[in-house]
Amino acid sequence: MTKTKTKFVCQECGADSSKWLGRCPGCGAWNTMIEELVVKKTDAAGIRLSDSKPRSIRDVDSTVTPRLVTGVREFDRVLGGGIVPGALILIGGDPGIGKSTLLLQVAAGVSEQYGTVLYITGEESAAQIRIRAERLGKIGNNLLVFTENNLETIINEAVNQKPAFVIIDSIQTMYSADIASAPGSVSQVRESTGKLLRFTKDSGIPTAIIGHVTKEGNIAGPRLLEHMVDVVLYFEGERNYAFRVLRAMKNRFGSTNESGIFSMEESGLTEVPNPSRILLAERPQGAPGSVVLAYMEGVRPLLIEIQALVSTTCFGMPRRMAVGFDYNRLIMLMAVLEKRVGMMLANQDAYVNAVGGFKVIEPAADLPVALAIASSFRNAAVDPETVVMGEVGLTGEVRMINRAEVRIAEAATLGFKRFVIPGGNLTNLKICRQDLSIVGVGSVCEAMEAVY
Ligand code: TYD
Ligand code: MG
Repeated sequence: MTKTKTKFVCQECGADSSKWLGRCPGCGAWNTMIEELVVKKTDAAGIRLSDSKPRSIRDVDSTVTPRLVTGVREFDRVLGGGIVPGALILIGGDPGIGKSTLLLQVAAGVSEQYGTVLYITGEESAAQIRIRAERLGKIGNNLLVFTENNLETIINEAVNQKPAFVIIDSIQTMYSADIASAPGSVSQVRESTGKLLRFTKDSGIPTAIIGHVTKEGNIAGPRLLEHMVDVVLYFEGERNYAFRVLRAMKNRFGSTNESGIFSMEESGLTEVPNPSRILLAERPQGAPGSVVLAYMEGVRPLLIEIQALVSTTCFGMPRRMAVGFDYNRLIMLMAVLEKRVGMMLANQDAYVNAVGGFKVIEPAADLPVALAIASSFRNAAVDPETVVMGEVGLTGEVRMINRAEVRIAEAATLGFKRFVIPGGNLTNLKICRQDLSIVGVGSVCEAMEAVY
């Protein structure tokens, strides 16, 4: 075998060198030289989608090839109705969150309906996969397990088998023999993904790649991976809670607003048709510091309880802690409460928790968090039948949010009767139900008067 040539390229400025250097001679940046494959001129053009000439957009054939419906409904929904043939899908998530479990369920679903599915694992033994499949109650003849990390062997096998779907668990354990660096290194991950991309586009066989995430929460390996693939999904959740959320970060075949909600059970991941009801099941009614928020998880409304505990500090520096909510936003909201509402919070510890292990990253959570802090500080409970939503600005104003109707409708089906919403949303609200009392507020002070 001829030795393939590689070179080291600076990821900042593109300067190259034949040997590894700690510091780039071009721009002087440290640790940016990454090994890359030197491609022959003929391969450099990359993938050719088809050999067509420019033509009028009216003449383009728009008949779509049917998607593979996996039978895992939440997964299909996030993808926009199933797996598109020839799609390269990247799924990221923390270790142990359930990526392998999810894809094994998807693999079983696809193999039942469409024939062979090739599940390639570089992390676990075939016996481990079998034990997991038994646990999920999904053992079919069409599900092929292949323990291999050499990408060239994998692609050869996939070309021979012509499966309906290929799964790579995980990209960090795969290596291409063309590159000398270890599996999991940036250049290996990128090269392996590039090869898989060429394979899916040439064969039309959809492929899902599992990727680990770094401490910062990005898929390990270069950002470039996300540009190469068609779909990027993130699987998230708190490990100690049963809820898992599948979100699309990028989707060339559908919307990125959809999200799938699962619960991790003894027998695998199950779909949760009504998460709000479960999330609010253990809510203490009429306790100070508890406020219900109508939150949008993509296009889906969820009711989440926000809890706050404020108590006088016994240290020099008060402690502030947020679980499931942005820490800096909590500090900002406390500053607004001090300055605009006149609450003396400087010597108070404050803890905020979004119950159920959800990460509440939406601006609409500002007002409920502010009201929960105020409620705990004053030791006065917020009316338990009230749902709160709204963004808070630095002058203490309450700003408009999106999809107020959908949120109100979801809360109304669960029996909530009172709503505190931004005044701006009140003017174009198209809900005419006499039994609901909807209060529009312009500032945090007004909101506080409205909820007790
Ligand atoms: P796994 O799919 O291995 O996670 P990942 O591939 O993302 O690292 O799943 C990890 C956890 O899921 C494991 O700790 C056990 C739990 N689990 C269940 O609770 N029920 C099940 O049926 C299965 C298969 C796993
Ligand atoms: Mg795994």
